[in-house]
Amino acid sequence: MDYKKLLADTVILGDVKSGEIEALITVPKDPAMGDYCLPCFKFAKEMKKSPMAIAEEIVSRIVAHGLLEKAEAVGGYVNFTLNKKMVASAVVKKILSEGETYGRSDIGAGKTVCIDFSSVNIAKPFHMGHLLNTVIGGALCRIYRALGYKVVGINHLGDWGTQFGKLIVAYKKWGDKDDIDKRGVRGLLDIYVKFHEEAEKDPSLEDDARAWFKKIEDGNKEAIDLFGYFKDVTMKEVEKVYKRLNVTFDSYAGESFYNDKMQPVLDELEEKGLLETSDGAKIVRFEGDKMPPCLLVRSDGATLYATRDLAAAVYRKNTYDFYKCLYVVAYQQNLHFKQIFEVLRLMGKPWANDMVHVAHGMVSLEDGALSTRTGRVVFLEDVLNTAVAKAGEIIAEKNPDLENRELTAEQVGVGAAVFAMLFNGRIKDVVFDYDKVLNFDGETGPYVQYTYARCCSLLEKCAPEGDAFDEDGISNDEAYALVKALEKFPESVTAAGEKYEPSIVTRQIVDVAQAFNKFYFEHNIKDAAPAVRNARLALVAATKQVVESGLSLLGIAAPQRM
Ligand code: ARG
Repeated sequence: MDYKKLLADTVILGDVKSGEIEALITVPKDPAMGDYCLPCFKFAKEMKKSPMAIAEEIVSRIVAHGLLEKAEAVGGYVNFTLNKKMVASAVVKKILSEGETYGRSDIGAGKTVCIDFSSVNIAKPFHMGHLLNTVIGGALCRIYRALGYKVVGINHLGDWGTQFGKLIVAYKKWGDKDDIDKRGVRGLLDIYVKFHEEAEKDPSLEDDARAWFKKIEDGNKEAIDLFGYFKDVTMKEVEKVYKRLNVTFDSYAGESFYNDKMQPVLDELEEKGLLETSDGAKIVRFEGDKMPPCLLVRSDGATLYATRDLAAAVYRKNTYDFYKCLYVVAYQQNLHFKQIFEVLRLMGKPWANDMVHVAHGMVSLEDGALSTRTGRVVFLEDVLNTAVAKAGEIIAEKNPDLENRELTAEQVGVGAAVFAMLFNGRIKDVVFDYDKVLNFDGETGPYVQYTYARCCSLLEKCAPEGDAFDEDGISNDEAYALVKALEKFPESVTAAGEKYEPSIVTRQIVDVAQAFNKFYFEHNIKDAAPAVRNARLALVAATKQVVESGLSLLGIAAPQRM
C-alpha cells in the first residue's frame, strides 16, 4: 500500500502538486505523532504564511479517506494517523496473498549485477576471515535476485602466483599424496611451511620454485597436473563449506583465467599513453599523485594482482554487460580497488562508475586470535563445527525429544554464525563469540529461528475457523507495532540492495521477531473469540512468512521445530 501517495492525495494546498507533497511526507520519529507527517516549512516563504498556519489550513481542507483516521496540525507539521484496523488487515492480507513473493520486486528486470565474492586462494586455508565476506556476498546475490536482477556470482579464485612453483617443489620433495588426500589444505600447508624453512638453509630451492612456476606458465603437463591437483584439493574442502553456508557461484573464473587477457589491456593502456616505464616496471600514475601509482608489470615481466583485475573487469563488461559490478572484499584492499577503478576511468570506460567495492571489516575470535596477524589460522570449517556442537548441546537441553536433532543443530549452529556476520553494518570489525551468537534471547539467529518455530507450532495447534475476521484483534498497540514491522520488510530488501547492506534485512527480521514476541506475550490467541482468533492467526501466518523469506535471503534455514 502506498500510504504516502494516498495521504498526499488528501491534501489540498494551492497549486502545489500532489507529487511534491508526497515527496515531503515522512514517518515521524515518535509514533505518538501519528504514522506519517508532512512538514510545512518549505511553503512558508512563497505563501507568506507561517508553517503553523499552513498546517492548520491543510487540516481544515483535508479530503476524507477511509484509511485516514485523523489529521492534526502540530507545530508546522500535519500529523496523519491511519486507521489501524484497516491498515492491519490490509497488510496481513497482502502478505498472505503474496506469500513468498512478498518483499520481492522487479526493479532489476533486464539488468545484470556481477558479484565478486569469497574469492578464495588455492592451497591456502579457507579461514574464519572469509566468513564475513562469503555470507555478505551470498546474501547480496539472493537480495539482488529477489529484486529482479540477473546475478552472476563470481569466485575470482586466487590461483596464480609464484607460490605454486614453491608448492610443486615442496610436494615433489616431501609430499605424501595419501596425507594430502586425507588432510587436504592442512597437508598442503605443512609442506609449504617446510619449503620456507628449508629454503632458508638452501636458497637453491627458490630457483627450483621459479623454474617450476615457469613450467606452469609454459603449460608443461606435469606442472599443470600438479597445480590442478592442488586446486582440486582446495575446492573439495571449500565446496563443503559453501554447501553449509548455502552459497553458490555462477563462475569460478579465477586469476589464471586472465593470463591471456591481460596483454590487450596493457596494449590499450600503452596506446592511450597511460603506461609509464619506471625502473623497468610498467605503471599507471594518477593525476597530482593523489594515490600511489598502479603497478601492472614488474621489471622481470611478471604481471600482478592488479593487472588481472583490470583484465577481469574488461572481460566481465564484455561478457555480461553488467549494470553494476560489485567486489565484496575487505577494506584492506580499498586502495587496490580505487586504483583499478581510476585506471578504467582514465582509459575512458564510462562503466568505470558502475564498479563498486563493497568493503567489509574483519572477523576475529573472541580469544583474540585474529587468523592472519597472529599467524594462528582458524579454519572456517572448525568454527562452524564448534557452533553446531554448541547448538546441539543447547537443543538437547531445551528440547530433548526433538526429532532430527542433528539437522536442527546444523541449521541453528551455522545459522547463528551467518546471522551474526550479517547483523552489523558490513564495514564494522566483528568479534566472534560463540555464546553470544547462540544466545536464544539476544538479537541472534537462534532467537529469530525460535520465533519462526513458535509461529509454526501455533499454526499447527490452532486452525482458523470460518471467515469471520475481527480487525480489532490485530489493531492493539502490540499487534500494530508488529504490522508496521512486517510492512517495512519490502523496503528493507530494496534498501539492502541499494546500500549493499544485508544487515538492513537482518535487523528488520529481528524487529519483526521482537514485535511478534511482545504481541504473543500480551495477547491470547488460542482462547480468543473465533473472529479475533482468526485475525490473530492470520497475523501469525504473515509473521511466519516474512521471517521465512528474510532468513532465506540471508541464507539461513528456518526449522519448523527446535
Ligand atoms: N583472493 C583475494 C584475496 O584473498 C580476493 C580477491 C577479490 N576479488 C578480486 N577481483 N580482486 O585477497
